[in-house]
Amino acid sequence: MASRLAGKKIVLGLTGGVACYKVADLCRSLGKLGAKVQVVMTQSATQFITPVTMQALSGNTVYTDQWDARIANNMPHIDLTRDADAILIAPCSTNFIYKLAHGACDDLLSTLCIARPAHLPLFIAPAMNVEMWSNPATQRNVAQVKQDGIQVFGPAAGEQACGEVGMGRMLEPAQILAELEAAFQSKTMAGKRVLITAGPTFEPIDPVRGITNLSSGKMGYAIAQAAWEAGAHVTLVSGPTALDAPYGVQRQQVQTAQQMHDAVMAQVNTQDIFIAVAAVADWRVANASNQKIKKSSDSDTPQLQFAQNPDILASVAALAKAPYCVGFAAESENLLEYGAAKRIKKNIPLLVGNIGHQTFGKDENELVLFDANGHQALPKADKQSLAKQLVSEIAKRIQTN
Ligand code: C5P
Repeated sequence: MASRLAGKKIVLGLTGGVACYKVADLCRSLGKLGAKVQVVMTQSATQFITPVTMQALSGNTVYTDQWDARIANNMPHIDLTRDADAILIAPCSTNFIYKLAHGACDDLLSTLCIARPAHLPLFIAPAMNVEMWSNPATQRNVAQVKQDGIQVFGPAAGEQACGEVGMGRMLEPAQILAELEAAFQSKTMAGKRVLITAGPTFEPIDPVRGITNLSSGKMGYAIAQAAWEAGAHVTLVSGPTALDAPYGVQRQQVQTAQQMHDAVMAQVNTQDIFIAVAAVADWRVANASNQKIKKSSDSDTPQLQFAQNPDILASVAALAKAPYCVGFAAESENLLEYGAAKRIKKNIPLLVGNIGHQTFGKDENELVLFDANGHQALPKADKQSLAKQLVSEIAKRIQTN
């Protein structure tokens, strides 16, 4: 999938901080995604990483000095941002936040920030020691820059270069990229609360065996990511998968259908949208053993008995104040006929059909959306693109709901 950052010009500002070494990687990743990167460094930043490295990685001249005569009109503080799509300061030091909050312009980067066109977004990824971050003066300055429309990415909590532990670590480059990608996404789900189930369930037979299915969780995770990028507060209730939680999404891990049901029902009352993507086992083993079942003789096979699992989607759809419900149907044939029928049977406004064995574990999929007006195909694409399309289709429908 083409990144939303492809073709964008990002002015990447580095200020003083050990996290500069991570920004070398960030710069490279931006380039790989097709962004044009213009690096500007403060004098302090050059103590941590050289302009030579950043020039090699960005493929562009690096500017550090407001009196740099290489720009024809000698005004790098103006010229460098006029064709830019965003300014990103990473790492952003305590001192630089102070300068932004007070409108200082005593070096190239701070002057460039205050001279930016009013429409140009400015993002900062703070990086500092825990005490510096929690100091009331810093917190005052952070509140001020937010109020001025500067978007703050992070920081995260964790172990710091100084050996202390706490808030103030810069986000990892991949997380900063996720924030940046999201910043260029229209916020069609701003403020909405979205609950999503994803992945398979695992129904134990005994402590070491169980029944599961081939769902990888990729589609549900992609939808969670896309909903977060569209401005939603997303909770993902996930069965066992090999996937990392998408950045920005709150994930709860469960194993069985019953656990997934309980986790969903415990929080569904506060949700605006419920998207049931999980491939939930219809049955569990009623006579599961607490001990490993032994093979005693060649002819002796265990007799499993099954009990029906709760239908999570049906339980949610039946609530008096049900959120907007979206179901998935993985069929093996006759998708158009079965999909339309399943939407009515499940009593939900939107059902997403796909051919199960063509999608499980794959990176691509094709979808058919069924609603009260009929059906609509989303042609074959990678799951991230389909997830974004689906999120905007859901957003359209809740606006007119
Ligand atoms: O009836 P079927 O299992 O094909 O329905 C699939 C849809 O119902 C999916 O959205 C799936 O997540 C949901 N489902 C559920 N709980 C179950 C079975 C299916 O939420 N026990």
